[in-house]
Amino acid sequence: MAMTALNKQPDPERMLRIYEQIINEIGEGVHVIDASGTTILYNRKMTELEAMASQDVLYKPLTDVFEFPHGQQSTLITALASGKSIRNTRQTYFNDKRQEITTINHTLPLFDNGTIIGAVEIANDVTKMERLLRENMREKNGARFTFGQIVGSSTAIQEVIASAKRAARTSSSVLVVGETGAGKELFVQSIHNASQRAAGPFISQNCAALPDTLIESLLFGTARGAFTGAMERPGLFEQAEGGTLFLDEINALSMPLQAKLLRALQEKTIRRIGDTKDRSIDVRIVAAINEDPVDAIAQQRLRKDLYYRLGVVTLFVPPLRERKEDIPTLVEHFIGKYNPLFQMEVTGVAQQVMSVFMQHDWPGNVRELQHVIEGAMNLMGQETMILPEHLPPHFLRREPAIVQRMPKDSSLHPGEAILPWKEAQEAFEAQYLQQALDACGGNITQAAHKLQISRQSLQYRLRKLGLQKRL
Ligand SMILES: Nc1ncnc2c1ncn2[C@@H]1O[C@H](COP(=O)(O)OP(=O)(O)OP(=O)(O)O)[C@@H](O)[C@H]1O
Ligand SMILES: [Mg+2]
Repeated sequence: MAMTALNKQPDPERMLRIYEQIINEIGEGVHVIDASGTTILYNRKMTELEAMASQDVLYKPLTDVFEFPHGQQSTLITALASGKSIRNTRQTYFNDKRQEITTINHTLPLFDNGTIIGAVEIANDVTKMERLLRENMREKNGARFTFGQIVGSSTAIQEVIASAKRAARTSSSVLVVGETGAGKELFVQSIHNASQRAAGPFISQNCAALPDTLIESLLFGTARGAFTGAMERPGLFEQAEGGTLFLDEINALSMPLQAKLLRALQEKTIRRIGDTKDRSIDVRIVAAINEDPVDAIAQQRLRKDLYYRLGVVTLFVPPLRERKEDIPTLVEHFIGKYNPLFQMEVTGVAQQVMSVFMQHDWPGNVRELQHVIEGAMNLMGQETMILPEHLPPHFLRREPAIVQRMPKDSSLHPGEAILPWKEAQEAFEAQYLQQALDACGGNITQAAHKLQISRQSLQYRLRKLGLQKRL
């Protein structure tokens, strides 16, 4: 009797609830569609990765949530239709929170008794690993870039190049301000290589990469016995002697450490931790910050006095969305870079792709564009041009293009093209919802109340029509 009790199968319903909890706890994104292409499972990690709310995706046809240009399919639908698995596709993109995400995806059809009943996409987040690899590579390579390699003919970028070249003639500190991926590192390395210190070392340290105490001993070095097990070791300041020390993400340093850095800059001397002797240094300091210094000061992530000391020369590297005229040249540049690496002969991007690029606002800036080209070239077959189907899924998300196309009063004028019914309906819906939102000062709860629909439903529609508020 006891044996039967032990072997008793658990209640399937309960098992289901257990599976559900596990699925939501694991570190891989899981997205399942059924045979009709409707999402039936979208776990928590996937909502984080794709920056989508679960209620906007769950139980909805995939094609309602993501837009796939004519004749194209998602990897999930492809797996469903072909019964074949697609493994190890690498995808790098930027989510709504401006975070760079890299995933390795596997898409597999799901079978029940030999019949395809759906498909699953499993996305493994390798963002942290990629970042570590990148940081590591950078330190070993020293300064590779020169001004000649900075692509872009826009006035915005040319002005920064001109100021950076002027800065290269001196040994003053430089503060480089710019969003992630905008090209700060490129400028810093170019300054070093154009300066009289080019023959000296270029040492780079990301201040956000390690905890404060470690950064401190790394920068200033340690004297033997400074703390248990400490060895006599020069810090990065000393290692950069005669060259340039690049401190990236300076706003990640604690306030006391920033004060210590300021002292080193002013006195041109440093003292190893635990030492009694000051050592004079001849090092040019270049620092970078990926937010507006005024905000960083206001929110106490940057000391004002350090800012004034560092920012003798301040270079603002403009985000890509403020110099979109550089996009075509950059696209050409990156295709030219990957063609020999991948042994391909890609000639360019389709018109449709270029117009998507010109509309996108590039939260990850040039790095994002570079990844998009690299990713697309990985997905290409015999084609010679990058097509919309080679772009990552977030580019396929419905954009407010319809709204822009719609005349203000939405009535049809003589000679005007008649839109397909579905598009016209969507255009009307978008315009009406936008008006309702505007009338409520952007308050979604209030607008939903007046429209007599649920808040969730309004949010879903706004997203679907590309009207959702950006972060
Ligand atoms: N103007 C440009 N021309 C050519 N390549 C560029 C340009 N700007 C950026 N890149 C490329 O984009 C990538 C990101 O640039 P970079 O590392 O300089 O950005 P960053 O501002 O330092 O970003 P983060 O804040 O994330 O460190 C690099 O691979 C770089 O080669
Ligand atoms: Mg950088």
